[in-house]
Amino acid sequence: MLNQNLQKQIEDLKQDFETYLKQNFTALPHYTKRLEDAMRYSLFSKSKRVRPLLVFLASQIGQPSIPEAAYVFASAIEYIHTYSLIHDDLPCMDNDTLRRNQPTNHIQFDEATALLAGDALLTQAFAIASQQVTTLDAKRQLQATNALANKAGIQGMVSGQAADMQVMEQDNMTQEEYLLFIHTYKTAKLFSVSTQIGAIVGGLTDLQQEQLAEFGLQLGICFQIQDDILETTSSTQVLGKNTTSDQVNDKLTYVSLYSVEQAQEKMKQAYEKARNILDTIEGKTELLIYLTESLLGRKA
Ligand code: IPE
Ligand code: IPE
Ligand code: MG
Ligand code: MG
Repeated sequence: MLNQNLQKQIEDLKQDFETYLKQNFTALPHYTKRLEDAMRYSLFSKSKRVRPLLVFLASQIGQPSIPEAAYVFASAIEYIHTYSLIHDDLPCMDNDTLRRNQPTNHIQFDEATALLAGDALLTQAFAIASQQVTTLDAKRQLQATNALANKAGIQGMVSGQAADMQVMEQDNMTQEEYLLFIHTYKTAKLFSVSTQIGAIVGGLTDLQQEQLAEFGLQLGICFQIQDDILETTSSTQVLGKNTTSDQVNDKLTYVSLYSVEQAQEKMKQAYEKARNILDTIEGKTELLIYLTESLLGRKA
């Protein structure tokens, strides 16, 4: 159900984040202006900013305002997400030409520049995460940075992307299990680390951190199943990206393995798991519940 007050709070937060991201972008040396342009082109294009919102909303569960450290880590995560999209679209990966309603980075610039823009965003993410944040306890900062490195890398997104690019090799695994692995790793781990880091910088307990990490994971699985479904049920104009990519690349997805109805059922199961966890978390979860419920009805 649409609650205008909660919706407005989320819109305002998104706006604050856009401003923060722009103000804190570090200019590159003069001779690498093309690289800077490519980084800015993708970083400041129209994104839903779901992962930063998850950091913010988790960080304010136990306190009245959003801590500065949440902005720092939300930026680092959005840099990583943006790099992952630039690389995901490259000809050697999904070979896509449209992203966020504009030409993909390598089409707008060139492949070498897109590759390097991704490298730059990934590296800069850790410069951001490890900068001095006086209001954050050093132990919590290290914990958050370590979780981010793990879940964006080989214990998360990069391994998921590798599995997505190859056909199943393990013979002790079903296609269903393999597909769940791909979605969990390529997408849900970054969702999970977003809510986990929100909990860490928001000073929440170990139990709350674990609950929020698991919530983020289930929400991420739901989100990626939705991504598969939307690619077949929505339009290029609404999605802002090509709607035949998975089919052309012969990808294993929830709509290639199951029917759309079955995929919707699987999506709802992950959603219910996520939603139920939220009910068990102590604190101010109203905004997080609202965001979760509104994501279920997303069209893009
Ligand atoms: C796209 O993520 C890639 C997936 C993991 C499905 P988003 O749908 O969050 O992309 P933007 O940032 O809003 O463009
Ligand atoms: C994107 O997965 C996951 C990452 C970029 C890590 P997809 O390849 O399915 O997402 P879209 O459809 O290109 O956004
Ligand atoms: Mg992909
Ligand atoms: Mg893709």
